Amino acid sequence: MELMQLTTLFPTAIFVVVTFFFLSWLRRKPLPPGPRGWPVIGNLLMMDQLTHRGLARLSEKYGGIIHLKMGFRHTIAVSSPEMAKQVLQIQDNIFSDRPPTIAITYLTYDRVDMAFGDYGPFWRQMRKLSVTKLFSRNRAESWSSVRDEVDAMVNLIATNSGSPVDLGEQVFGLTHDIIYRAAFGSISAEGKQVFVGILQEYTKLFSAFNVADFIPWLGFIDPAGLNTRLPAARSALDRFIDKIIDEHLEKEKKTGDRDMVDEMLAFYSDHEIQNDSNDLQGPVRLTRNNIKAIIMDIMFGGTETVASAIEWAMAELMHTPEAMKRVQQELVDVVGLDRRVEESDLEKLPYFKCVIKETLRLHPPIPVALHQSSKATMIGNYHIPKGTRVMINIYAINRDKRTWQDPDVFDPSRFLHEKSPDFRGSNYEFLPFGSGRRSCPGMQLGLYTLEMAVVRLLHCFTWQLPVGMKPSEIDMSDVFGLTAPKASRLVAVPTPRLSCPMY
Ligand code: HEM
Repeated sequence: MELMQLTTLFPTAIFVVVTFFFLSWLRRKPLPPGPRGWPVIGNLLMMDQLTHRGLARLSEKYGGIIHLKMGFRHTIAVSSPEMAKQVLQIQDNIFSDRPPTIAITYLTYDRVDMAFGDYGPFWRQMRKLSVTKLFSRNRAESWSSVRDEVDAMVNLIATNSGSPVDLGEQVFGLTHDIIYRAAFGSISAEGKQVFVGILQEYTKLFSAFNVADFIPWLGFIDPAGLNTRLPAARSALDRFIDKIIDEHLEKEKKTGDRDMVDEMLAFYSDHEIQNDSNDLQGPVRLTRNNIKAIIMDIMFGGTETVASAIEWAMAELMHTPEAMKRVQQELVDVVGLDRRVEESDLEKLPYFKCVIKETLRLHPPIPVALHQSSKATMIGNYHIPKGTRVMINIYAINRDKRTWQDPDVFDPSRFLHEKSPDFRGSNYEFLPFGSGRRSCPGMQLGLYTLEMAVVRLLHCFTWQLPVGMKPSEIDMSDVFGLTAPKASRLVAVPTPRLSCPMY
């Protein structure tokens, strides 16, 4: 009898379960539109098209939100202000995680930092620490290191007046020096060279394609040699920063000229700690790995982003001589040529401010921001599964034809209009610093460096292209990675134009 009951109940249960799943599948809303993929690999063969420009082209065909299947991974690309608002504001509690790629997880000691960690109590504590202690305007040391290093760059350029200067190299050197000094307190040429090498390898590894991120059982296919390069890069970082941490621990500085490592060591605990505390008010405790991973966040966040923006601002101005003339005339009218331009002058330079905004619109230093969904949700009528990777195409949004007239033209005066969008994150048409929970915590410091460097370069020198070169011949192409710097360095010839000492 019992056996008979079982033989009838079992098929009924299976029938009920299958019907339930079938009906929920039927009821389920579709995924966003997008190019069809292959079985198993999905759209992986399109990998080289998934740059800021390639995604912008795809969105012209499929719309402001598109779906791609990268191996087993659902991925969406968001390229319109409306969809960005959905992800960054309306549902930002769902879309504030970061994708844990194998390289990121390994290089950040299992994501014990701020930039690559998931949204949660630990991330909130790290964010609070960064905003109040590391990137805060009250930390005068960072701001003074910007001024000193900009002075040093101007000084060096002045010694080369009349000859071609590799401006790209100068500004990348500048931001490395600023952040290196703000983080470690001193600049040793040898130390900086080693560290920049580590940073460059980290940048390559973060953006290297790894098939195992999309189809885990294909991890043995490793053409980029990640399985050996990852441990080598992390050991190099360990050797470098452990030494710096030890030196700082020895001459512990409680007051005075404190660098970022000193600030973090105030929260140091040499015991491994559980980083899942819900208590935002409770004491923050940092391990060595936290400190190392946060330093890398600061290095990534604060060097290439700012340097590429300075180089692009100068390149666009040299490419558009009317804009260069106008901004330099504004400096003559407002500041004059018999004293240095100061931070307090910036607010009186409306056209200069527009040059900075227009540069960040056309060349957002982080062209595509990466997020991940923490649970299944809907955007409009589309189903977005849990764990979907989200690429927010800031580049495409900043050039959306519906918002911007002649979107590809460098025209700073578009920002002179009172109602022009602002970049602080509440206008989803213009998002150079992102918006919402994961927006840039270093915005103030980044903007300050960008503005001070560009304004001093424009005020101190007249810039010409190397002999025989026309503005239209400047290479304005970019390369895609975590940032989108100029593909070839900007070379220009400076001539001093101040009647007072420059530095
Ligand atoms: C012109 C300069 C800069 C621009 C345009 C910029 C832009 C951005 C963008 C777009 C994001 C990602 C937002 C998102 O995922 O939604 C970001 C994140 C971040 N930025 Fe910046 N940034 C700049 C300078 C800086 C500086 C100077 C620092 C630090 C010294 C910094 C540190 C960071 C960090 C740590 C994050 C990750 C925040 C998190 O995940 O919670 N940035 N930045």
